[in-house]
Amino acid sequence: MKKLYIETYGCQMNVADTEVVFALLAPHGYERTEDMTEADVIMANTCSVRDNAEQRIHGRIEQFNLQKRSRPGVLVGILGCMAERMKEELLESGKVDIVAGPDAYRSLPVLLQNAAPGMPQINVQLSREETYAEIVPVRLDKNGVSAFISIMRGCNNVCSYCVVPYTRGAERSRDYHSIVREACDCSEKGYKEITLLGQNVDSYNYQDCNFAGLLKLVAESCPGLRVRFSTSNPQDISDEVLQVMASHANICHHIHLPVQSGSDRILEKMRRRYTREWYLERVAAIRRYMPDCAISTDVIAGFCSETEDDHKDTLSLFEEVGFDAAYMFYYSERPGTLAARKYPDDVPQDVKNRRLEEIIAVQNRLSLESNRRDIGKRFEVLVEGPSKRNPDELCGRTGGNKMCVWPDTEHRAGDFVEVEVLDCTQATLLCKLV
Ligand code: SAH
Ligand code: SF4
Ligand code: F3S
Repeated sequence: MKKLYIETYGCQMNVADTEVVFALLAPHGYERTEDMTEADVIMANTCSVRDNAEQRIHGRIEQFNLQKRSRPGVLVGILGCMAERMKEELLESGKVDIVAGPDAYRSLPVLLQNAAPGMPQINVQLSREETYAEIVPVRLDKNGVSAFISIMRGCNNVCSYCVVPYTRGAERSRDYHSIVREACDCSEKGYKEITLLGQNVDSYNYQDCNFAGLLKLVAESCPGLRVRFSTSNPQDISDEVLQVMASHANICHHIHLPVQSGSDRILEKMRRRYTREWYLERVAAIRRYMPDCAISTDVIAGFCSETEDDHKDTLSLFEEVGFDAAYMFYYSERPGTLAARKYPDDVPQDVKNRRLEEIIAVQNRLSLESNRRDIGKRFEVLVEGPSKRNPDELCGRTGGNKMCVWPDTEHRAGDFVEVEVLDCTQATLLCKLV
């Protein structure tokens, strides 16, 4: 047996892909290790979405090469989005032996077999069909509670800032039979929660089954599982999906709905195909169907040509929606994207930083307000394990994805418990068992 070590960066999709890579390599004698210093093969599954994500990987490649120097024969591989974006360029330093893009993982056994010092191997072919549908992933979740299921790959949108369509290729949906089979398999193996993954889940379409149909099918096939999904695109999220969510008790009332900007002018330049008004209407629709539904978002500060007024539109949109949580970034120009080709990256870094800080300050307050509104309420929580701070406390999430902690020595990871919220911080609901 050889030992394989993989570090995973980027989105949940990459976590799911790493699980597929372990599954593809297991029959070829590669066993997973979590200790890089004993690995025969050291890999990073990488992200290109922002420049600092890539810089981190360059640092890791240096670290991996220290292993190679002390243990000749060790192979270093780069998988994922950065492999796809940089291609041969990654081989030029002589520090990488294998480069495999997101659709090329089936070729990894051959690439590994052929790789040798001075003989690097590369496959960055993108595919229109590959979904790894029948591969049973080697799950990485330590608690055995929560599993990711990829329902589609790639992206057909061309948001002007975004590198994903270039690194992941065209959108394709996975056969729903294999999705349901994977969900049921998770359930049989004791998992309690699954998250259906896609860059734009609302455009799922396989043989006339749309996302609403898939969600219903999965929720009804596995009534014991909590079902989550990500990411919803404001342009495509349909009332039909909201109806399915509202009418199935095991679908979590949480929607991740990235807005990116609150300014129509910037949204248009970003090539997001909705307006502020449309976004707010979708939020209102979500709350019509599910008054208790949590809404989170992504936002980019300082996109090309963004003015102070555009930025204020983003702040006011945050206030208007009152997001429960947000992932907040400053704009990072990505080579090859439409924005990089067409628009100067003209908001100075200090202005980007300041605008981002302002958005974070607003969101911190909104998160606290959202948590305060939950004081006195009861929630069903899925236990993830002991809390980080106190071994006599457990932690777990509500359907709305809020982290709860409570004193408890009876239950274990995977149990569903009911808690009452007594107090909160900005990040956590402090609860008691009921
Ligand atoms: N498919 C998802 C987003 C995937 S990328 C969607 O359409 O919403 C995750 C997040 O990274 C994006 O929502 C965006 O907020 C951020 N992002 C993408 N490209 C970026 C860039 N060039 N600079 C800064 N943030 C970026
Ligand atoms: Fe990127 Fe837009 Fe596709 Fe999301 S929908 S992955 S932001 S191109
Ligand atoms: Fe990053 Fe690729 Fe995901 S660029 S965010 S790992 S799709």
